[in-house]
Amino acid sequence: AKIRRFKWEAKYEHKSPDCFKKLVITINGRSPGPTISAHQGDTIIVELKNSLLTENLAIHWHGIRQIGTPWSDGTEGVSQCPIMPGETFTYKFVVDRPGTYLYHAHYGMQRDSGIYGSIRVSLPDGESEPYAYDYDRSIILTDWYHKSFHDLATGLSSIPFVWVKEPQSLLIQGKGKFNCSLSLGTDVCNATNPECSPYGLIVIPGKTYRLRIGSLTSLSALSFQIEGHNMTVVEADGHNVEPFVVKNLFLYSGETYSVLITADQDPSRNYWITTNVVGRSPNTTDGLAILNYYPNHPKRSPPTPPPTGPSWNNTSLRVAQSLAIKARQGYIKTPPQTSDRMIVFLNTQNEINGIRRWSVNNVSFTHPHTPYLISVKHNLTQEFDQTPPPNGYDIVNYDIYKKPTNSNATSSNAIYRLDFNSTVDVILQNANTMVTDNSETHPWHLHGHDFWVLGYGDGKFDIYKDPKKYNLVNPIMKNTVPVHPYGWTALRFKADNPGVWAFHCHIESHFYMGMGVVFEEGIERVGVLPKSIMGCGAVKGGLPKP
Ligand code: C2O
Ligand code: CU
Repeated sequence: AKIRRFKWEAKYEHKSPDCFKKLVITINGRSPGPTISAHQGDTIIVELKNSLLTENLAIHWHGIRQIGTPWSDGTEGVSQCPIMPGETFTYKFVVDRPGTYLYHAHYGMQRDSGIYGSIRVSLPDGESEPYAYDYDRSIILTDWYHKSFHDLATGLSSIPFVWVKEPQSLLIQGKGKFNCSLSLGTDVCNATNPECSPYGLIVIPGKTYRLRIGSLTSLSALSFQIEGHNMTVVEADGHNVEPFVVKNLFLYSGETYSVLITADQDPSRNYWITTNVVGRSPNTTDGLAILNYYPNHPKRSPPTPPPTGPSWNNTSLRVAQSLAIKARQGYIKTPPQTSDRMIVFLNTQNEINGIRRWSVNNVSFTHPHTPYLISVKHNLTQEFDQTPPPNGYDIVNYDIYKKPTNSNATSSNAIYRLDFNSTVDVILQNANTMVTDNSETHPWHLHGHDFWVLGYGDGKFDIYKDPKKYNLVNPIMKNTVPVHPYGWTALRFKADNPGVWAFHCHIESHFYMGMGVVFEEGIERVGVLPKSIMGCGAVKGGLPKP
């Protein structure tokens, strides 16, 4: 195993990813930032310099479990104090499993500003995947707002509440195309700016490509398709999938997949790669990239119109794809057949003090001033609410099909304390929003662990009947999973990673509005915390004297 060192500098630059000029946070001048490529077992060291001048920063390594290094998780308020302007923070962690992972800012809604990238972990030399391919490529899908995240976040915290609305465009590997004729002038939006020419994926006719696709959208669920080419899904969130073939791949924010494609079509032309919004009534320009058959000109537009995905409101198609994702034969990690604890999380919208929030069991999450890892480890009990948050909701009486009437929602920074090494089941229960006949899709992401996806269902989870339907034979393990409209998703994980870990909706505005919880386990096993994560809240000047 190797040590791989990276020196990164984050700064604001004017960029035009979709032809519209905006302030973007780049890493070493790029958005998406550099790809981290490593082998299983390597140690990654990232020296991150915050050159944002007047803004704090933290970067999370999405899908990396941080076993033994919970202070490198990069989650502001949970695992560290933010990195202040001018400071350099060193992240150090081991990439202990092969697969496709991501990184992104984890401080307020900062991820929206373009600070994200891919992590690609290969098997050690001499080992190979259970599928064959000639080349390996990574693509990240995002959606893109023209307003700054400061502007969006301010709206979400204002009375009256101002919703972020649909993003302006979809980006494929950091490039999109907004229709500049809707905009103000070529100094603001310039359709001929080479920065926003579509991303081109070059393929050699006859070869097979492993495409590692990750979604880091702010809001949108996506359908991804490559004109004229089927995709064979082989990996999800770092785990081998029993292969299945799709024309459209649905991705929720925080998910990664590997698909195999073979360049076996007419090689005299190029093909479209497209993304479009599903699950919400779309009002966003589709993402367009080009599958460029070598040696055709990379910019030559395909002669046919770009393909679109299935209609945005076809929920059953999306549920069917979620259900199709199973662990690959020969690579199944069998889950524990029983659990020690079940927690049911009801996801609702509420109004708290005149501001619209998302709540979990009627509690809307707020960040504390001192990161939990420090306050829990050092027993700084004043730093967050010590009352345990609710383990469930009123399953008998709550009507998930009605607008919530629960006026008793509260904000809290309380956390769930799990017994070390226990097996925990989490049921994510969806419900109606504050809009009549509306329920949204939420991609939930767990830090520090992978979980088994035991099942998805429609309607209200029945704690007696539904566990009997769990897939305990070949469930896939993931770190991000969708909860479909009016449905539930059941997960199981082992609380075996000492630390404090966020579990939240990966929609940037939803988490900002309180859609998340925090788990603690085995804190007594966490080693001495590095001083570099301190410097805020109660540990501004270091740890208080005992
Ligand atoms: Cu990719 Cu807590 O996030
Ligand atoms: Cu959500």
